[in-house]
Amino acid sequence: MSTDTHDRLLIIDFGSQVTQLIARRLRELNVYCEIHPYQKVTAASLRAFSPKAVILSGGPASVLDDASPRPPAALFTMGLPVLGICYGQQVMMKMLGGTVERGGGNAEFGRAYVRATDTQTDLLNGWFTKGDEQVWMSHGDHVSAIAPGFQVYGTSPGAPFAIIADPARRFYAVQFHPEVHHTPNGTRLYENFIRIAGFRGDWSMGAYKDEAIRKIRARVGNAKVICGLSGGVDSSVAAVLIHEAIGNQLTCVFVDHGLLRQDEAKEVVSMFRDHYNIPLIVADEQELFLGALDGVSDPETKRKIIGKLFIDVFQKHASAVGDAKFLAQGTLYPDVIESVSFAGGPSVTIKSHHNVGGLPEKMGLKLVEPLRELFKDEVRALGRELGLPAAFIGRHPFPGPGLAIRCPGEITREKLAILRQADAVFIDQIRRHGLYDEIWQAFAAILPVRTVGVMGDGRTYDFACALRAVTSVDGMTADVYPFSHAFLGETATRLINEVRGINRVTYDITSKPPGTIEWE
Ligand code: XMP
Repeated sequence: MSTDTHDRLLIIDFGSQVTQLIARRLRELNVYCEIHPYQKVTAASLRAFSPKAVILSGGPASVLDDASPRPPAALFTMGLPVLGICYGQQVMMKMLGGTVERGGGNAEFGRAYVRATDTQTDLLNGWFTKGDEQVWMSHGDHVSAIAPGFQVYGTSPGAPFAIIADPARRFYAVQFHPEVHHTPNGTRLYENFIRIAGFRGDWSMGAYKDEAIRKIRARVGNAKVICGLSGGVDSSVAAVLIHEAIGNQLTCVFVDHGLLRQDEAKEVVSMFRDHYNIPLIVADEQELFLGALDGVSDPETKRKIIGKLFIDVFQKHASAVGDAKFLAQGTLYPDVIESVSFAGGPSVTIKSHHNVGGLPEKMGLKLVEPLRELFKDEVRALGRELGLPAAFIGRHPFPGPGLAIRCPGEITREKLAILRQADAVFIDQIRRHGLYDEIWQAFAAILPVRTVGVMGDGRTYDFACALRAVTSVDGMTADVYPFSHAFLGETATRLINEVRGINRVTYDITSKPPGTIEWE
């Protein structure tokens, strides 16, 4: 189904860091929406887009400054429901006859509580049922007089007009950010707004997939595309989606750098080549990488060597594809959030730790990043829509430099072999106990120390192994997974019995911060 048949909501972006979260909340409510930077929205483009409602995002500017961003004035005469968030509220007031003042003592950042002054609006269904509502504020300026036709519904110490509305015109505005996690009841406001606007809730991940396929075809045309496959969820979903869009115009390249987990290369090949019939080049470059890493123990040097070789190898194999014009990447929204520029909308910056960073410039390739609007759990939902096996979709993240950063000190083939086995036993334990899906990421690391032990009646002098398992939402912060002592004891026994070369097991109980998830 094309999106033309869906109810459409337009988000006019004034540059807030959390604008994408508005889109995410709306997708959760089965609403099709697009984010357009304010500079691109004119009265004519508004009419052409034909939204059923419009949301004005927050943003860093001050409506009191000359030439501060505005939506087209026509927005307010089209009979459309409008919801203004933070800067969006202030800009509505400024344009409709209210006043906005500089912060002074009224600036608010962080958690605040809004008190109801009136709840007789459908926008507040399900709000204030248990008293004040917690919200998240982030504003310097504030509205000091509301525009004619508006009424106050909620107030906070720093925002006397925290919630205002002109129900007759279906104009609503809030000073806080209902889209963020710290406004726990925020989704309800969006739900109420879209209900007021008459949305049917007719959008789904299936429709998103169809739309993404259409966009990929339009962008790529007949050109060839190459995609670096890591075996992780993001690049896999991107590859399968693109393959569905353009078939064999896509070639994937999977680099085996000798730092993969047990059976990883085999699984990736079987998944892509055998299961999906996607053209796949497997570059066996173990000797190259391990040779270059020989004797290297500094973590940053390891990463740099791997990053550089990765680009060289990828480039070598990608050139064989012929005249590829595009590079596909599984970049997610959290990866680009820093590079969403206020001025021009999303800009093409690749995170430095990305495997193929630097390639587009070197090879003159354009990027295709079909997941860049999505969050991890949405990518998993899209993967399910594309029919990827559940076990594949649920896989824990695995870093580009692979086992190298789980092997502090010098990397040797002996250590890698021990590490692979230890990791496989640990993951098997987690699966057997039904814990895999509760954990963001779990792995073993091999420590650069040998310790003395006793097995049977003999002395052992083997490596120590550290286990790491964390919960996380996005990998930016993480908590240690609270295994039971029984589980840890059983796992330690299995590891020492089944894996030759380790005689001591520790569990890493450092959260992030101050630790990082990986050891290096
Ligand atoms: P840290 O160790 O920084 O890891 O807490 C956060 C998340 O990122 C993954 N990670 C990487 N992924 N290339 C990647 O593709 C890398 O160089 C890299 N370094 C860390 C890590 O596994 C965790 O999920």
